[in-house]
Amino acid sequence: MAKKVAASLLSADFSELGKAVRVLNESESDWIHVDVMDGVFVPNISFGQPVVKYIKKYAKKPLDVHLMIIDPDRYFEDFKKVGADIITVHYEVCNHLHRTLFHIKDLGLKAGVVLNPHTPVCLLKDILCLCDVVCLMSVNPGFGGQKFIENTYHKIKELKSMIEEQGLDTLIEVDGGVNTENASLLYEAGADVLVAGSAVFASENPMKTIEELKK
Ligand code: DX5
Ligand code: ZN
Repeated sequence: MAKKVAASLLSADFSELGKAVRVLNESESDWIHVDVMDGVFVPNISFGQPVVKYIKKYAKKPLDVHLMIIDPDRYFEDFKKVGADIITVHYEVCNHLHRTLFHIKDLGLKAGVVLNPHTPVCLLKDILCLCDVVCLMSVNPGFGGQKFIENTYHKIKELKSMIEEQGLDTLIEVDGGVNTENASLLYEAGADVLVAGSAVFASENPMKTIEELKK
């Protein structure tokens, strides 16, 4: 499976969001990762549909919308309208995950589930076949620039064998604390998509950093 990078705009300069999106368009980033936070599920508020609409206006890459919000089903139509291509929801907030994933897919979008660091991958066994993506949080969600949680490697490997056992082509995404030092180890462990925010936007040359993440 080809290695992918999904650069996260959370660490971009929001006063120049259009410029950041254009940089990602020119870069080797495969997706543009968009972090929506509600201040309830996570202790931070980022932005919502109106901002995503402006990101879409400039974006030439698929928008990977990571919903860190409670009751996400209420907003799928809205996020489709403003340009989401992939929507991922947190396992921890979905009482009816089967219905939720179908809801996203019925809108013609790719659907994924995100697991917090404390949520075991085995809980996905009977829902994996509906996941285009499983995103493993390698930090506690809510903020960029946090330290990578090492237990994630073990979770990637376990998830990879579950995917192979079931003969699926579900992508494994890893989100949080990804940088040029751990990227190759993460791909080796079985990750397909690496989300990188601060590693990209705090670097002197975001385009070059993305290139290095993919090497
Ligand atoms: C954190 C977000 C991440 C964030 C990652 O809750 O889900 O996507 O942007 O930031 P870094 O790469 O700086 O850890
Ligand atoms: Zn994210």
